[in-house]
Amino acid sequence: MTKLKELLKKLDKSLLWFWSKNTFLSSFYYFFISGKFRREHHAVLAGRTQHSKEIKEEKAHFYTLVRNTHRLEKGLLMKPRRDVFALDFIEETVSHFLTLNKVSHLSSDPQIQWSYDVLTEYFQVTTEHPVIENQRKRFLSSSNTLLESTSGHETLTPYERNEKKKPNISFEDFLALTQYRRSVRWFMDKPVPHDLIDRALMAARQSPSACNRQPFEYRIIDEPTLLNEVTNLPMGIKGYQHNIPMMIVVVGNLDAYFNERDRHVVYIDASLANMAFMLALETLGLSSCPINWPDIESLERKMEKTLRLKKFQRPIMCMAVGYPDPKGKVAYSEKRAIEKFRKYN
Ligand SMILES: Cc1cc2nc3c(=O)[nH]c(=O)nc-3n(C[C@H](O)[C@H](O)[C@H](O)COP(=O)(O)O)c2cc1C
Repeated sequence: MTKLKELLKKLDKSLLWFWSKNTFLSSFYYFFISGKFRREHHAVLAGRTQHSKEIKEEKAHFYTLVRNTHRLEKGLLMKPRRDVFALDFIEETVSHFLTLNKVSHLSSDPQIQWSYDVLTEYFQVTTEHPVIENQRKRFLSSSNTLLESTSGHETLTPYERNEKKKPNISFEDFLALTQYRRSVRWFMDKPVPHDLIDRALMAARQSPSACNRQPFEYRIIDEPTLLNEVTNLPMGIKGYQHNIPMMIVVVGNLDAYFNERDRHVVYIDASLANMAFMLALETLGLSSCPINWPDIESLERKMEKTLRLKKFQRPIMCMAVGYPDPKGKVAYSEKRAIEKFRKYN
């Protein structure tokens, strides 16, 4: 059996040049010969399905409202600003806003507030157009209660940056922080306070994300039984997994997208947030180690079961977090010279 497996492996390797000749052959390969993309394909389609199901059944979709609100913001800050814009998505935006605004747990959500403020400004600055006029009427007649309940707050619409608010952090300080953060694999036997994690998440959530969707979740695990289960899954932490006091599994939500073209964005957005998160941890006395999540079907199944993930949710990566053991060594991991990865023009 192992001999046959080895032979098939060899054959697979020796024919790669053929399957990689063009997109048709590579699709054939991944359909008939290798199932390694199967779970990803499934998750992307499950995400699209969930996306349209929510829109159809609930008549609203939070990610769509966030995306559209952001598109309106961009219209509002354009130079020069057009008198008429967003004709192709203003109806959808108003519909989703009016539906979500009625959902009780969202009534105090700052992003609903943001949508309201952006829509209000949009209808203030756009000139007459039948499409806009219809939506203006819908918006103004249905959102009066919100208008009253939120008067007096800071308006969450495009603004000019206040240079006086620039934090007093020198480049040297920032560089020193990036150099101080290292992948830490040895931790003290000390629980990680949840309020420190929440503070680091405040920095993580400031990270850029495509259309401001932030399509990810931080699953933070420190309950001993669950922690033991989760730390047994990734492959790259053998030998030190027993001393990890907290594991975070960052999960991407593919239901944020109506189209496959955005399927990589969960990984990009989450990674940007993770970097801010890891730097923030260092300022709070905590350290971390990013941990690879390999796309291996058996492991994926176990993680799905352990964290009760939905079919459209994909683990992106894990992070070990804890108070660094002062006696534990960190790897030197010399970095690439910038000449090797930068190219001007
Ligand atoms: C996506 C990703 C996956 C990683 N996976 C692992 C892992 O499985 N196990 C581990 O010990 N370190 C892992 N690391 C840590 C890297 O080895 C480390 O970042 C690299 O050697 C550079 O060292 P530094 O983080 O101290 O600068 C991972 C890092 C990243 C960004």
